[in-house]
Amino acid sequence: MQKLAIQGGTRLNGEVRISGAKNAALPILCASLLTCDSLQLSNVPDLNDVATMRKLLQQMGVKIELSGGQVVLSAAHIDKLEAPYDMVKTMRAAILVLGPLVTRFGEARVSLPGGCAIGSRPVDLHIKGLQAMGADIHIEHGYIHAQVPQGTGRSSGSGGGRLKGARIFFDLVSVTGTENLMMAAALADGVTVLENAAREPEVVDLAHCLIAMGAKIEGAGSDTISIAGVEKLHGASHRVMPDRIESGTFLVAAAAAGGDITLTDARADILENVLEKLQEAGASIQAAGSTINLKMSKRPKAVNVRTAPYPAFPTDMQAQFMAMNTIAEGSAMVVETIFENRFMHVQELRRLGAQIEVEGNAAVIKGCAQLEGATIMATDLRASACLVIAGLVAQGETIVDRIYHLDRGYEHIEAKLSALGAQIRRLK
Ligand code: UD1
Repeated sequence: MQKLAIQGGTRLNGEVRISGAKNAALPILCASLLTCDSLQLSNVPDLNDVATMRKLLQQMGVKIELSGGQVVLSAAHIDKLEAPYDMVKTMRAAILVLGPLVTRFGEARVSLPGGCAIGSRPVDLHIKGLQAMGADIHIEHGYIHAQVPQGTGRSSGSGGGRLKGARIFFDLVSVTGTENLMMAAALADGVTVLENAAREPEVVDLAHCLIAMGAKIEGAGSDTISIAGVEKLHGASHRVMPDRIESGTFLVAAAAAGGDITLTDARADILENVLEKLQEAGASIQAAGSTINLKMSKRPKAVNVRTAPYPAFPTDMQAQFMAMNTIAEGSAMVVETIFENRFMHVQELRRLGAQIEVEGNAAVIKGCAQLEGATIMATDLRASACLVIAGLVAQGETIVDRIYHLDRGYEHIEAKLSALGAQIRRLK
């Protein structure tokens, strides 16, 4: 198993290019299933989750051409309307094929994701939404079987009928739930209104891609999205938005370790909450065009964070801020309101000497002057990023084990950090 060895105590200086967003690329790759024409994507990040999604789509019959960050997908001939357990268990986002398959072909068989390290994460909202649009859904042997009854007016040569537009209220804000139903509604008969929809920028990026494919969508980025279904979608070109979580992770790393870094190909307008918190910690931040510069010359001040759906503080940045708070001046409280078990990194941070108390969904972190390097283990994607940041500020060597989690969501992280001056190498 691969590990990262980090020699802590170096400041970060220089420029780093931000990759395309994983959480935008994954649903957009699935949008290729909605048309028999080609979808041309650029700025697609080179990540394990993206490779898993490509493999899943290829297994269904999608033809894919790759060249650097460019991906051309053609779903002209789909022979398997199925996402098997092996794929869905390694990447929950595989559930995003459900909406496109059901709406274009009238049927699908997708494995239930099961639990994961950060909580139970059910997909009941995806299922209820499709049922409201007329799909018959039953769960059998761990698989979601969805079928739209025949004779409901689909003219393309698919096996099942056509979904109907519906008014759908989400009990909880769900990012992939909103994306799945937005894709399903794009080809449904009539108008679908999604209420209490996710407002995340990745939902908006998917909507832009779907609109370029001929979908009629209004309100993406607000909590009410209205989609007027069309008979057919066509090919399009789309550039995947920059990754706001990767951006935030590098900024927190520099705020914790000290230094002067500039992100290029980034977007400050979708990071407002994170940038405000970094300024509160004492960092100076300048954003201009697609660059964001952060300067930090002192020990950070402790900052409280409370996660909530966008535009509030993202749960995917919680662990990284926890790492910064471990060496900050003062005490901070971190409250996690999205996932029930997203404090797995706390035990590992304690092994480096961090002082953290957890009570339910709140963690109180008492900043200490110095962490000490040790061997620690990554448990999920963002927890891994948190441990890398802790390794960058700890005294001596930190070994981060099980970094396959990191490779799911961060493109060439050790190369990018090395270019900023970090002493970090991969042990194979
Ligand atoms: C997406 C992101 C993930 C991020 C999360 C929250 C992708 C590929 N992943 O995950 O990085 O951490 O949003 O911002 O975009 N829930 C239900 N029933 C459902 C769906 C969700 O109860 O049918 C619950 C979840 O358990 C969780 C909350 O709703 O407590 C939010 O989850 P959701 O927004 O759906 O997360 P994902 O879309 O899986």
